[in-house]
Amino acid sequence: MQIISFPNEEVGKGDYLTVEDFKTGKSLIVQVVDIQYANIPGIFEELLRNYDGDSSLQGEDIDPFEVATHIAYIQDARLLVCKIRATNINGDMVFTSSWLPSRSRAVIRKLPIERLFASAKNGNEYLIDLGETNEKKQFQVDVRALDGGLNIITGKKGTGKSHIAKLLTLSLVTHGAPVVILDINGEYTGLGRTADGKPNDLHEKIHILTPKKNFKLNLGEFKIRVMLNILVNALHLPGTSAREFGRIWRFLDQNNALNMRELGEAIKNWKCNQHVRDALFSRYYTLLNSGLFTDEPAKVASFEDSIHKTRVGGAVVINLRDTSTVDRHVLVEYVLGKLVDLLTAKKLRAIFLFAEEAHLYLRETYWDDIVTRMRHYGMFTTFVTNQPETIRENIYRQADNLFLFNFTNDHDLETVSRASKVDADTVKSVARDLPPHHCLVLGKIVNDFPIVTKVRKLDVQTMGHTRLFFSKIHPLSNPVRSM
Ligand SMILES: Nc1ncnc2c1ncn2[C@@H]1O[C@H](COP(=O)(O)OP(=O)(O)O)[C@@H](O)[C@H]1O
Ligand SMILES: [Mg+2]
Repeated sequence: MQIISFPNEEVGKGDYLTVEDFKTGKSLIVQVVDIQYANIPGIFEELLRNYDGDSSLQGEDIDPFEVATHIAYIQDARLLVCKIRATNINGDMVFTSSWLPSRSRAVIRKLPIERLFASAKNGNEYLIDLGETNEKKQFQVDVRALDGGLNIITGKKGTGKSHIAKLLTLSLVTHGAPVVILDINGEYTGLGRTADGKPNDLHEKIHILTPKKNFKLNLGEFKIRVMLNILVNALHLPGTSAREFGRIWRFLDQNNALNMRELGEAIKNWKCNQHVRDALFSRYYTLLNSGLFTDEPAKVASFEDSIHKTRVGGAVVINLRDTSTVDRHVLVEYVLGKLVDLLTAKKLRAIFLFAEEAHLYLRETYWDDIVTRMRHYGMFTTFVTNQPETIRENIYRQADNLFLFNFTNDHDLETVSRASKVDADTVKSVARDLPPHHCLVLGKIVNDFPIVTKVRKLDVQTMGHTRLFFSKIHPLSNPVRSM
């Protein structure tokens, strides 16, 4: 639907309008997705004619019918390109647009976003503050919309993706939900602190696990399935050797000797083909030298203990910063394997998983698994990425919520728009113009009304700073100069 707007009427991309037809009692709810000049026939000519060159013409403008101001109005008129989102029939929302209002009688008004969600508000204790709308009004959503869902946060670098992921994490934790974060840049490690480094309200509920430091793996906690996944997928162990490894594992398990030392001994003494032994040994040494494993269970916090603490609300941050690709794969296999075990054994009701740049550590077969099987068990994932093409199209299709930040690159816009449930025009036109920290929210969490919001600030320590070479150094603090 195209609507003409005059310069004194303030409308922005993403705003909602109602087009009411009082005779029928119906109204359309439309969203502005693009704003252009109204190209009314003759206007261009009029603009050219008005150009007075070097102002050489002297005299008085005579405008006996006082049309000049009107012409100026028409010249500046804008065309609002709108998408029809719903029809309001005597108060009931219908998500179709088979009806069109009268062009001559309809009354067009701005629809404040909070009115769109007015019914959901009353006494709802699950509301979280996401930010503010174009009208500078607080924008709240129901945190339960994240439950059981699959979410995607995407946008170019530095637009605020990790920020909203932190906001959602803290909101979930506040409402008693357990969260696990696969933190590739170590930027969630400050979640439990305010910007100036003091512990915040949720400090006790944020558990940071840094591999090799306070997070080590113990063979005793592994299921054979998870260990084989690591060997085959992360360390590329061939099938024959993997079968032999299975036998060794069962042998150690029966003898209650599942630890790295015994595993090394067993491989050494196992009766098998030399190639198989070599293959097993090379993987064994990779694991041993990774420093991720320990045989002393008492010394380390187990992942399971940390998860246990989040049951009444809490977040476990797996700090994957400074870990090698192989170590990351090993850790992620372990973490996901453990979570599935806890979920299937009903030791955990559900878990919200946040995965940043998941293509860096998630193996191919996990993607579908996460959106189907694991989701069924209660693992609800949020993928965060600045490279939208690393997420497969079917994952976008299955996504319940999409938090879209600015993209200027056409290729990225194309990827996101093609795959999301909302029409491509909206996604492309709105996302291209989003300022930093502004997000187009799509999906269940906004009742399928795409909403633009400025994400609210958070008082947490940010750790995501990129290390720079040319950083500002005060002359006096520069040791070379002061010498
Ligand atoms: N809504 C916001 N309000 C205030 N600061 C923000 C907001 N969103 C992001 N920031 C800040 O902007 C910077 C980049 O945000 P970040 O979330 O790390 O971007 P991204 O993950 O998209 O690369 C960070 O320093 C962050 O604290
Ligand atoms: Mg980020």
